[in-house]
Amino acid sequence: MTEVGSVRLLADAQEFIPVIAGWYKSEWVEWFGDTSVDEIEADLRHVANRDRLPLALLVFDKDATLLGVCSIRDDPFKSYPHAGPWLRGLYVHAPFRGVGVAGLLIGAACEHAKRLQIPKLYASTQSAISTFERAGWLGFDQVPHKGQVVTIFAKRTA
Ligand SMILES: CC(C)(COP(=O)(O)OP(=O)(O)OC[C@H]1O[C@@H](n2cnc3c(N)ncnc32)[C@H](O)[C@@H]1OP(=O)(O)O)[C@@H](O)C(=O)NCCC(=O)NCCS
Repeated sequence: MTEVGSVRLLADAQEFIPVIAGWYKSEWVEWFGDTSVDEIEADLRHVANRDRLPLALLVFDKDATLLGVCSIRDDPFKSYPHAGPWLRGLYVHAPFRGVGVAGLLIGAACEHAKRLQIPKLYASTQSAISTFERAGWLGFDQVPHKGQVVTIFAKRTA
């Protein structure tokens, strides 16, 4: 049984960057096909901020095992360029799925967005629709993206 222990900023846990880069590379094979693990790690170091975007959040269990990650980024999503900032890179390591870890990350992202006075967060997803709905987000649009249809979600942070 997974017992969640803490949510930390990637800025304060940068030793986990190689693990996360490995997860991303194997999960999003098409997206990262031409991108090396070194490049993904460099991008993650760029996301390791505390008081400004982009930033990333990690969730750990009680034994400090990393369970999952997400980021908040303000670079535009090309398939929906007029919205943002975006919750992106939501990933829960496979052994820890199905117990609400993603919901915890999504909630923590909203809290950090509020802390940074960001009134609204957006997300696009094809695979995590029910997870965002459970977290109280509103799916309000659908757009084509890389041969799929993704749902655009939004949530007010205040
Ligand atoms: C999508 C993802 C983040 C969800 O994380 P999570 O912490 O498992 O989220 P939830 O706890 O809300 O569970 C998600 C679903 O998995 C189901 N589930 C149950 N046990 C599971 C298991 N052992 N493994 C996977 N899914 C399981 C849950 O019942 C739930 O189903 P439902 O949404 O159809 O009701 C995670 O599956 C993941 O990292 N997937 C790969 C990357 C990805 O698709 N990211 C989303 C980008 S927006």
